[in-house]
Amino acid sequence: RKSVTINTLQSLYRKNEPITMITAHDFPSGHVADHAGMDMILVGDSLAMVALGMEDTSEVLLDEMLLHCRSVARATKSAFTVGDLPMGSYEVSPEQALTSAIRVIKEGRVKSVKLEGGAEMAPTIAAITRAGIPVLAHIGLTPQRQNALGGFRVQGKSTASALSLLQDALAVQAAGAFAVVLEAVPAEVAAIVTSELSIPTIGIGAGNGCSGQVLVQVDMSGYFPPGRFLPKFVKQYGNVWAESMQAIQTYGKEVKSREYPAKEHTYPMPKAELAEFEK
Ligand code: KIV
Ligand code: NA
Repeated sequence: RKSVTINTLQSLYRKNEPITMITAHDFPSGHVADHAGMDMILVGDSLAMVALGMEDTSEVLLDEMLLHCRSVARATKSAFTVGDLPMGSYEVSPEQALTSAIRVIKEGRVKSVKLEGGAEMAPTIAAITRAGIPVLAHIGLTPQRQNALGGFRVQGKSTASALSLLQDALAVQAAGAFAVVLEAVPAEVAAIVTSELSIPTIGIGAGNGCSGQVLVQVDMSGYFPPGRFLPKFVKQYGNVWAESMQAIQTYGKEVKSREYPAKEHTYPMPKAELAEFEK
């Protein structure tokens, strides 16, 4: 498969063909997503929780993101890669944001960056895109701002907040964003925003009227212990945890029972050498 570029994404958008996007956080998760034919791979700051065991995304550092971006980038031959700018790496000024975005490209080796925020981030998005770095915007539920939003809540449920979501979408588009993630907004609102824009919308918990969809890989593949809370919008397509659990438990049992390693997993020694050695 040819590599997906910004032009490929634009052509999918023009053909009204949904854009597929998934997160990855390391070499294996990047590899499998790329081989599965995803159009876009996001190294999201959700890796704070799913790969680093942190409470939320506010803890992860730019330097930590860079290592993960680089690992995913090495695994990705085809998909268009995006690296999240973590909280604290871009809000101070457009200059700070551009400096961080350049690091994500040069050290993280991905092709574009994502940042959270609407109209207020327009000058920042403009500064980064002016430097030739594609920006994916992210509006609606913006997890980095969970403390200000009062938690993980659906955005755009009232007429006023739907209108402000639309204004944010138009502002990030005018600032040069190549696409915009809409997280946790009513499907009707997302569909209207999508029809008002001339750039793709990538939905997560935003219904099927968006130009594409994104999910967190460990959530959709079921790579988490039983009992983990999953947002309503997640569809679990697999049970990687159960598969992995079963493999590790069987290995453990076979080691205890000396069933493993069997003969076929063992290096033989030539009989003559062995006889000599045994003397
Ligand atoms: O960090 C992340 O995984 C994200 C997606 C859920 C959009 O930002
Ligand atoms: Na994120």
